[in-house]
Amino acid sequence: MPASHVTNGHMGDTSKCVLVTGGAGYIGSHTTVELVNAGYSPVVVDNLCNSSFECIRRVEEITGQKIPFYKVDLLDKPALEEVFQKHCFEYVVHFAGLKAVGESCQVPLRYFRNNLECTMTLLEVMQSHGVHNIVFSSSATVYGDPQYLPLDELHPAGDCTNPYGRTKYFIEEILSDMVKADKNLNAIVLRYFNPVGAHKSGKMGEDPHGPPNNLMPFVAQVAVGRRAELSVFGNDYNTPDGTGVRDYIHVIDLSLGHVAALKKLDDKCGYKVYNLGTGKGQSVLEMVEAFKKATGVTIPYKICDRRAGDIASMYADPTLARDELKWTAKRDLQEMCEDLWRWQSMNPEGFGGSDSEQKSSDTESGKESILGKHENNNVATPETATAQV
Ligand code: NAD
Ligand code: WQD
Repeated sequence: MPASHVTNGHMGDTSKCVLVTGGAGYIGSHTTVELVNAGYSPVVVDNLCNSSFECIRRVEEITGQKIPFYKVDLLDKPALEEVFQKHCFEYVVHFAGLKAVGESCQVPLRYFRNNLECTMTLLEVMQSHGVHNIVFSSSATVYGDPQYLPLDELHPAGDCTNPYGRTKYFIEEILSDMVKADKNLNAIVLRYFNPVGAHKSGKMGEDPHGPPNNLMPFVAQVAVGRRAELSVFGNDYNTPDGTGVRDYIHVIDLSLGHVAALKKLDDKCGYKVYNLGTGKGQSVLEMVEAFKKATGVTIPYKICDRRAGDIASMYADPTLARDELKWTAKRDLQEMCEDLWRWQSMNPEGFGGSDSEQKSSDTESGKESILGKHENNNVATPETATAQV
């Protein structure tokens, strides 16, 4: 290892170093905390196009550790190469990507360019630096309209209803082909169901830019007074109360699924696919009721037309993850709602959003560890944070 090579930015630290792409985002930031808790040394790369540097600062507050952070766009191969030069990664957890289903239908090329090229660039850089382990954030959306329920990993995938979903499916295929071609490479695809909730501290949670697309962030913004009422998209589905049924999973359980996946990679597992869900389906109205029960807050709602592209029901069979990753989701709906509400009520405007929109004059932005400039602080400041969409 070259003298300048460090594991997580601390010389002499021997804990296993993990590159977390998209680690300033919702799931990536919670996973970064759980990686620290499990004894790993995460390093975050994110271009902050859908997140805020404040989130990294909160991760540091919660963990009491410095998190090396690089504001790098994964499309920028030389900048990514520099990060790999500075750290000796054992694993990559790849969250970075665009994720708005509706937007992907309007600007599909942007989604294919960003999500696919990010991943291919990352895989090339991993290859050239001898990094052989990757966990990829996929989605239950790759299953398309379910042919049967619960969805197990043998259910046909690829008949996606939107370009976003197709980017996930194509990346799964790329990873599968890469593993076939390279016997040293191990890739675990995690198909998430519907992540909700927030960190117990109330310091970290989901902070959508603009009106939330997803149900529970919308519910939370109604509860805090940022939105007048919830629109329930259809009550004429073939479900017990007519509203859509989904498998909601606490973001901390989901994060712990990534820790379990890293352990599985140590077995040199090749290519594997796992559902991360609870196995239980809840309707929209059940979620509104659960939120009220957990928080005492009543959510005003109106029944509207169905949302284009929505399906009636979707929930996971999480048996494979239980058997092979030794992982199960433990947190119930009450806890998901309580934690979501703690985050939203303590942070009505989320992370504030200001730093992610701040324009920086730093031409080196994207190539420097922000943290490295603040040796005396336990937390970093967003000196070079710049939104680049
Ligand atoms: P998020 O938007 O909060 O996080 C994604 C992060 O990736 C953001 O911080 C964004 O700035 C970053 N990013 C995007 N393009 C980048 C690029 N070119 N270079 C560097 N960074 C880039 O989303 P999330 O909810 O935390 O989701 C994380 C991953 O999980 C995504 O890949 C998403 O598709 C997948 N996923 C999410 C859900 C969900 O409901 N939240 C469900 C299934 C799968
Ligand atoms: C849940 C239920 C809606 C909002 C999406 C993506 C999927 C994955 C997770 C990334 C549905 C209803 C919603 C609202 C409502 N993301 N709803 N009013 O559609 O299961 O999945 O996020 O991979 O790919 O498609 O989640 O939270 O949008 O909707 O009535 O304002 O809530 O119709 O029944 P969905 P969601």
